[in-house]
Amino acid sequence: MLLAARKKLAIRGGRVIDPAQGIDRIADVLISNGKIEEITGKSDGHTPDGYEQIDASGLIVSPGFVDLHTHLREPGQEWKETIATGTQAAAWGGFTTVCAMPNTEPVQDTASVVDDVMRRAEAVGVVRVLPIGAISVGQNGKRLAPMGELADAGVIGFSDDGNPVSDANLMRQALAYSVDLGLPIINHAEDKRLGAGGVMNAGAVATRLGLAGVAAEAETAMVTRDLQLAGLTGARLHIPHVSTIGSITALRSAKERGLNVTAEVTPHHLTLTDEWVYGQHGEVPESVGPESYDTNTKVNPPLRSRADEEVLIEALAEGLIDVIATDHAPHAATDKICTYNEAAYGINVLETAFSSIFTLVDVDPKMLSLGRLIESLTAGPAAILGRDLGSLEKGYSADVTLIDPEMKWTVNPQAFASKSVNTPLAGVELTGRVVITIYQGTKVFDLRNHG
Ligand code: DOR
Repeated sequence: MLLAARKKLAIRGGRVIDPAQGIDRIADVLISNGKIEEITGKSDGHTPDGYEQIDASGLIVSPGFVDLHTHLREPGQEWKETIATGTQAAAWGGFTTVCAMPNTEPVQDTASVVDDVMRRAEAVGVVRVLPIGAISVGQNGKRLAPMGELADAGVIGFSDDGNPVSDANLMRQALAYSVDLGLPIINHAEDKRLGAGGVMNAGAVATRLGLAGVAAEAETAMVTRDLQLAGLTGARLHIPHVSTIGSITALRSAKERGLNVTAEVTPHHLTLTDEWVYGQHGEVPESVGPESYDTNTKVNPPLRSRADEEVLIEALAEGLIDVIATDHAPHAATDKICTYNEAAYGINVLETAFSSIFTLVDVDPKMLSLGRLIESLTAGPAAILGRDLGSLEKGYSADVTLIDPEMKWTVNPQAFASKSVNTPLAGVELTGRVVITIYQGTKVFDLRNHG
């Protein structure tokens, strides 16, 4: 962590949007000692003495974003990302808290590995890192990890991430144990046998490219099973990266039945479809040849159909999907310069997350409002964590994200803070950009120094 200078800061004249407090007005945000001191009634053009000023006129002032699903790759795959570069990428994207998935090497399945991650994060992270513990030893789905020990070490939930817990009885046990620990189980929802080795969404694009497809039912079936088991055990289930219409139908019925379930959706599943696999920014080419795909679109769960995408946007807008989470999955160039079959699954998301979804708001705020977008990046994930985060409430950590809603920029992965460049958005022009990120009262990103 950067040693906070603990200055007094006044963020002046911005449009302050804090869904947790129902605030959307022009105001000043005062910060002292790394904490929120006050949101003024309105911006009165007068700043008390001793405050460094940030002119936020024309900008949106939001609580710092909270990401429930980030891959930092350290320990074990530091050539893809480190805690230092991953947290810098987070800061550049407006995130002041990231939850680190346990598929590191070694896996975060013991207190000592979790301790190690937390210590490294404290030393070099520029934003808050909250670790997620594994559900099973080595994430291999055979034996439960020491969940109580992991909870004591400070994990915020349990997940085997890319490895779904296929054994229903093991999943039932994990859910049952998690009840006493008061932490959610986050199960990657995919029936691998039904997925049958597919590398993209099953459908017309897969057929045309000659690639094996994963049917949407591979996800829907696992979501349905997990919801049944959550009902059986009374546990908290958090469904990561939902991507299918069937998952949304199952989620709706589970919430109507009062199950303790929450769900997240990624920026890419909200904004990209399987037509992006052609590598032409969503255009469908007239003919296909050996170069007709972009391995940066390979992700698990895969990019789905337009119909799925529309239902996901609606479900987020109405609050059925609780939060946006990035599933930031950095991979090295060699993992992506290869055939689609060989490529690694994962998209580099932190630095494009807000802007890519803001494009939806910009096009049609009736479809997705700015307030709901910010809520799903702040108050929503904070509520799932049960922590005093995601709001500009007095006394909370001064984690603040400033956004220029008019700024147009073109995605240049070579300029990312992340170590990796695996995004299908290279060269795409986006509108709206995070310009300043403040963590615990200290600026950890200022676009003017990096732009
Ligand atoms: O696309 C993905 N990448 N999905 C996962 O489940 C794992 C992740 C990774 O770790 O790269």
